[in-house]
Amino acid sequence: MNDATDAPIGIFDSGVGGLTVMRAIIEELPAENLLYLGDTARVPYGNRGAETVRRYALNAAELLSSHGVKALVVACNTASAFALEALREHLTIPVFGVIEPVARQAAALSKSGDIAVLGTRGTIGSKAYQQTLLNLRPGLRVHPIACPLLVPLAEEGWTAGSVTEQVLAHYLEPLAATDVDTMILGCTHYPLLRDAIEGVSCNYCPPELNLLDSGRATAQAVSEALGEQDLLRSRNNADGEHRFLLTDLPEGFVQTAQFFFGRSLDGACEHVDITDRATSSATG
Ligand code: DGL
Repeated sequence: MNDATDAPIGIFDSGVGGLTVMRAIIEELPAENLLYLGDTARVPYGNRGAETVRRYALNAAELLSSHGVKALVVACNTASAFALEALREHLTIPVFGVIEPVARQAAALSKSGDIAVLGTRGTIGSKAYQQTLLNLRPGLRVHPIACPLLVPLAEEGWTAGSVTEQVLAHYLEPLAATDVDTMILGCTHYPLLRDAIEGVSCNYCPPELNLLDSGRATAQAVSEALGEQDLLRSRNNADGEHRFLLTDLPEGFVQTAQFFFGRSLDGACEHVDITDRATSSATG
């Protein structure tokens, strides 16, 4: 029997990277129906300005709302950094970003009080991680590092090798002068580079570095909040359905997706048109 809990959770990202977050949500909440929207026609968001990203995110939220989602997960760090507040003002359903859950984990784990955050130019420039961490634990020393070359490396599958290591060394070398014991991978794509980041960072940080990504922390936050609001499907149900909406043609996405998702896409990919216009009324 269908009830409100059967409605899907909407997951939105600029493209393929949000599948790392979707993967964590499936592990945490296997019974949930999930509707993924990749804005593949307008990816990447990481180098775009705040206003543009906010507008794109509102367009995406409208589209997912029109499919009746019961909650929205903004899986993209850049969109979480620039648009979370606007989305929460605009929607009447619960809206989750990827920044706060992992920041909370990092603030609790760091012993030295020095935390590095890696992210796109947009995410780092927005100072969203810096502010969230300092609100959670005043006195922390946050070391933000914009890493614009890491998204293309991950998408091309260059997750190891000398070029990737050189790029990482360039970004991580300044950490040698800090006391960083905790590092946040503040971008959907960086979990794919985890081994390489771990390998290179041990030249500049202690070997027991806490390396955190948003996927698991976000999935746990979604599970807890929707549970409290009685919005979760019963775990007695069969595994949920997974659908994928893409604003560009699916071919390229399907090829790269497997890599990010850790398995082949078991649901259908559909091409959708997204309306690019300013949004005014409350939705959802
Ligand atoms: N999804 C973006 C993020 O997490 C990375 C890809 C992009 O630049 O659009 O910030």
